[in-house]
Amino acid sequence: MERQRILSGMQPTQPKLHLGNYEPIKSWVRLQEQYKLYTFVADWHALTTMAENPGDIAANSREIVKDYLAAGIDPERTTVFLQSHVPEHAELHLLFSMITPLGWLERVPTYKEKKQNLQTESEPYGLLGYPVLQAADILLYKPYGVPVGKDQAPHLELSREIARRFNHLYGEVFPEFVNILCDTPVLMGLDGRKMSKSYGNAIYLNESEEETAKKVMSAFTTPTKIRKTDPGDPENCAVCNLLRVYSPNWEVQTDECRRGLRGCVQNKRECAEAINEALRPFRERRRQIDDATVEAILRRGAEEARDFASRTLAEAKRAMGFR
Ligand code: TRP
Repeated sequence: MERQRILSGMQPTQPKLHLGNYEPIKSWVRLQEQYKLYTFVADWHALTTMAENPGDIAANSREIVKDYLAAGIDPERTTVFLQSHVPEHAELHLLFSMITPLGWLERVPTYKEKKQNLQTESEPYGLLGYPVLQAADILLYKPYGVPVGKDQAPHLELSREIARRFNHLYGEVFPEFVNILCDTPVLMGLDGRKMSKSYGNAIYLNESEEETAKKVMSAFTTPTKIRKTDPGDPENCAVCNLLRVYSPNWEVQTDECRRGLRGCVQNKRECAEAINEALRPFRERRRQIDDATVEAILRRGAEEARDFASRTLAEAKRAMGFR
């Protein structure tokens, strides 16, 4: 029996992924066992914020594909591609842009946020249209579901609204899809805030064990825990939060911290080791992936993706009366 399709992607706005970005990829790796997964790098989406500086997008995209593969995305089961290699995304985006009311787009929370953080004076047209392109990304593959984090829910809702409007105007082309919520924890960064590249508080998947250890050794803990015997506050400590995700022994480690039975230095050492151990297979696999392999996977992925996407696009155009 044909597996149900699911699809997800990431923007290549940065060359390297951190622990927080790894969590959703791990859930894709699990899901690919059960579903036919399409996973792509949304390189055109990165243009919405990087258009004046697009030089890094192509290289960033390859780095992300290496991370996908090292994490266990299996190109034999899963279609891995770059959005810009599949022009059908752009064409469906154009058609959708004609039926999407501006008011829907102006209400999207990520839009308001990005607009405030824009580096340039003028706001590009594409920024407002970001979710319309995302709707095309999704609906071209008529997926059963889309695995994403909570922050993407408004985008997915908009995709569904665009699909409904299209179907209402021209006939049923796009089936409803569901959100597959990846219950990935928001990781605390080294300074106690949410882990994010822009805060400079992240541990990167592809850094060396020494770099990881150095960062953890200088991480934020409980400010009032000066001596080992002072009680700690594990819920608000970056090291204890990372232990909880990465250390099999976290219950003892955080309990002893809370009761003043162990110091932060010991927990930091054990935390660095736990993270490095968790990442060791990933880092090992990633070192072995060469550029030629990545290009071959992307070529084949683009063919597989176009094979499906071009049929959906043809159907959409027929429904609108183009021939
Ligand atoms: N907007 C998503 C993000 O920032 C990336 C993305 C683009 C995406 N197109 C998609 C995710 C389609 C899921 C499906 O993470």
